[in-house]
Formats: sequence, C-alpha cells, structure tokens
Amino acid sequence: MDQIPVCNYEGSDYQTSFWDQSDRAYEDGAEAVALRRLLPKSGQRMLELGAGAGRNTPRYQGFEQIVLVDYSTTQLAQARQRLGQSERYRFVAADIYKLPFGPASFDAATMIRTLHHMAEPRLALAQVRAALTGGAPFILEYANKQNLKAILRYTLGRQSWNPFSPEPVEFAPLNFDFLPATVRAWLQANQFLLERQLTVSHYRIGLFKRIIPLRMLVWMDSLAQLTGDLWQLSPSVFTRSRAAGTAQEITPELVLRCPACGEAPLPDTPPLLTCPACGKTYPVENDIYDLRVQ
Ligand SMILES: C[S@@+](CC[C@H](N)C(=O)[O-])C[C@H]1O[C@@H](n2cnc3c(N)ncnc32)[C@H](O)[C@@H]1O
Repeated sequence: MDQIPVCNYEGSDYQTSFWDQSDRAYEDGAEAVALRRLLPKSGQRMLELGAGAGRNTPRYQGFEQIVLVDYSTTQLAQARQRLGQSERYRFVAADIYKLPFGPASFDAATMIRTLHHMAEPRLALAQVRAALTGGAPFILEYANKQNLKAILRYTLGRQSWNPFSPEPVEFAPLNFDFLPATVRAWLQANQFLLERQLTVSHYRIGLFKRIIPLRMLVWMDSLAQLTGDLWQLSPSVFTRSRAAGTAQEITPELVLRCPACGEAPLPDTPPLLTCPACGKTYPVENDIYDLRVQ
C-alpha cells in the first residue's frame, strides 16, 4: 500500500493555540459531557487514537492502562508532560493506517477530532477494528458536513458543496467533513455495531459564547445532544459503536506488532526494538515508542 498522506502536527502548538488560549471552553465542556455519556465505567486497556497533547486522556480514568497513539512525537511529548510519568500510560508514535498492535489488544477505543484528517477513513476504521476485542466500545467523533450553518450557506448560494451528498468534503488540505449516513455505513462495513449518536457543539457561534454564561451554554448543549439519534445537524457528532464478534481475553502485556511487515510479537526491548522478521528498528526516547514506518 502506498503511503497515505498524514496531517502532520509535528512541532504544532495546537493544544495551546487552539484550546488553552482560544475561546473554546464551551466546545471542551460539551465534549466532556458527551464522553461521560458514552464511556464505559471501567476497562482494562484503552486505545486513544490521535491523542494529541492528551486533552481528553484524564477523562478515561476508569481504565487500567491507556495507550496514546499519535503520529506526532511532539504532541505525545506534550501529553507526557501533562499526564506525568506513570505505568498507566503508554505513548506510541504511529500511523493510524498501520497500527503497531497485535489483534484484540484493547477493550475500548476513542478517536476524537481525528477522523477529519483521514483521507482514507475506511482503512483507518479497519485498523481500529482489528486492534479491538469483540464487544469493545469504540467512541468516534467526526466533523459533520450536514450541519445547520453549511445547509444555510448552501441554500443562500454562498457555498458550492452540497451538505447532503455522501462524499466527504475537503474544506482545507487533509481536513474533511463527513455525512453522518456515510460514516454509519463505514462503521457497519468495518464490523462495528452502532449503539448511540450524540450531536455536539450546537451553539458554536461567537455571539452565543459571548452573551450566554459558559455553564448555561454547556447545559443547553447537553440537552440538545440527546436528539443525536433522531437527526444530526451539529458541526460535531459523537458515536458509540461496539466491535462485532466474540470477546477475547486482553493480554496482560500490550503485544506490539511491526508496522512495516506485520510480525507479532515485536519484542519490547527499549531503547531499541528490532523486528525479528524484517530487521527494521524502532527507537524509544523519553518513554515515546516511535513505531512509525518512515
Ligand atoms: C485535531 S488533533 C486532536 C487531538 C485530540 N484528540 C483532541 O481532541 O484534543 C488531531 C491529531 O491527530 C493526529 N493524527 C492525524 N493523522 C494521524 C495519523 N494518520 N495517525 C496518527 N495520528 C494522526 C495529529 O497528529 C493530531 O495530534
């Protein structure tokens, strides 16, 4: 398979500029409510895909271990700094299209604000399914092209793309909005059984954020989220699906797999991992496993 392009956050100050220094407390609060509603109370090993600087990781406290995956080592370094050094966290630089884990390694996964960077979302979802045991919940957030603002702009002739058509719209390089029905079809095709949808960030409008107190706005959003199984007109949608198939025991230790040739187990021998099959090597620096195929 050719290298699928990756939206590279290496060196980005995304966490600071997008979240900490911008007016996004409402979106963060609304996402926290959605996650609380969808997350299982507890579990063994959570796979956090596109973890970035670990903004959401503290929300997965019911899990014994959390494996943060991101393509960018600098995002993971920020996450490590934020979360601290702990046995509970594993930091893995990897490409979602080539996940370096043995089959059924996780009993839950999340992918928040990351599908919208996927040029090949179906391939990404297939990789996620392969890493999960049967019955595992998968919480997927995606950017919704069929949102009220896009519908209005299209109706007024201010937007060329159709918000109701099935194909993704790439509104900036490697930034995609998706049609909910299309995402549901991809989930189903990849052996995920959809359980629940929550629409999120209904009031993502500067004026609302200025005049309505934060707690009230988050509360209003938390009510509107509950219509998510009926219609999806918000800019962000959270879904919870379950991996189809029989539940298998999660291995006590995380089983790594060579992302280049697929050999598993890949011996876990920091500071350098060497694949016994293809000889490729992978460094571990500052607790971050670099399992990308360069
Ligand atoms: C918008 S950030 C979201 C971070 C975090 N989930 C949050 O909500 O705060 C998207 C993240 O996805 C990562 N990413 C994009 N494409 C990826 C890929 N193919 N494999 C792994 N990570 C990827 C980026 O490096 C970035 O950190």
